[in-house]
Amino acid sequence: MSILICGGAGYIGSHMSSYLLEQGKDIIIIDNLKNGHKNALLGGKFYLGDLRNRIFLNKVFSENNIESVINFAAYSLVSESINNPLKYFNNNILSTITLLDVMKDYGVNNFIFSSTAATYGHCRNIPIKEIDATKPTNPYGESKLAVEKILKWCDKAYGIKYSILRYFNAAGADINGNIGEDHRPESHLIPITLQVALGQRERIMIFGDDYDTPDGTCIRDYIHVSDLASAHFLALERLNKGENSNIYNLGNGKGFSVKEVINTVKYVTGTNIKSEIASRRQGDPPILVASSEKAIKELSWNPKYNSLEMIIETAWRWHKNHPYGYKQ
Ligand code: UFG
Repeated sequence: MSILICGGAGYIGSHMSSYLLEQGKDIIIIDNLKNGHKNALLGGKFYLGDLRNRIFLNKVFSENNIESVINFAAYSLVSESINNPLKYFNNNILSTITLLDVMKDYGVNNFIFSSTAATYGHCRNIPIKEIDATKPTNPYGESKLAVEKILKWCDKAYGIKYSILRYFNAAGADINGNIGEDHRPESHLIPITLQVALGQRERIMIFGDDYDTPDGTCIRDYIHVSDLASAHFLALERLNKGENSNIYNLGNGKGFSVKEVINTVKYVTGTNIKSEIASRRQGDPPILVASSEKAIKELSWNPKYNSLEMIIETAWRWHKNHPYGYKQ
């Protein structure tokens, strides 16, 4: 019996694949390599293809004995989603609908869905709980929320059991240094700041210092990518025991402002990081901090990288050793 990982060559997907290989699991990976990297794959059986292609999916399901599916495949840039919402709705929603349809046909009933804190939007209750209102401020979050709603009905109608995992800000890299973050172009705060430390960029632009936060910059909850992988594994085990569908936030429960992140990068890398204040980035909520009590309690999840410094150290090791990311 195998676990299918869709988007398994991407940043979070590749860390999941590596984690499952370490647990001795049999894995099948699908990726269209639009954002993923073939060199991020450390094992398993790989299929190159797009989830919206039903014929392709039928082939994958008919050739393997798949018992559970984890779906990471999605576009995930907030600002791009604002400029091109249809790209996001088409890819993120249609791909998951096609996948669920094929799962239904093959009687595969366990599904882990990669969702996001962006489903909450501008939430006033901090830390955010799963029961808080979901009002996305961008099409990316909206596309993930749409799939969450679709999942509820698929459970009722077809018995597909799911765990929706709402990640806060995924960061860091595998401790053994083989895989890490490589987005092209890069838009995320930590890798961009590390590129400044490496001398690849002149400065980091701070998107807005006039938010209603202590230092005026946005606050995020950074969670190590390997801790995300362990949560997926526990969520899968829970579904395998026949437990009900559920939603979990995944974060460290501590918020750091953009300026605090830059200062921590300065400290970890021992370099001076130049920064400049720029205007706000559209669609950015001011504060996103998770309450992950539910995941800690129900999944017995125990995030290991619970300091920002530790998270940035792992990222720094990856970026120093792979200054241009994966070899093409
Ligand atoms: N930021 C800067 N300068 C940069 C890059 C980012 O100031 O060059 C700021 C952003 O404005 C934001 C914070 O740093 O306030 C974090 O930005 P990231 O781009 O690193 O991450 P986001 O919070 O925008 O997005 C992440 C995921 C999304 C997910 C979102 C949920 O990448 O997929 O968290 O909030 F939807």
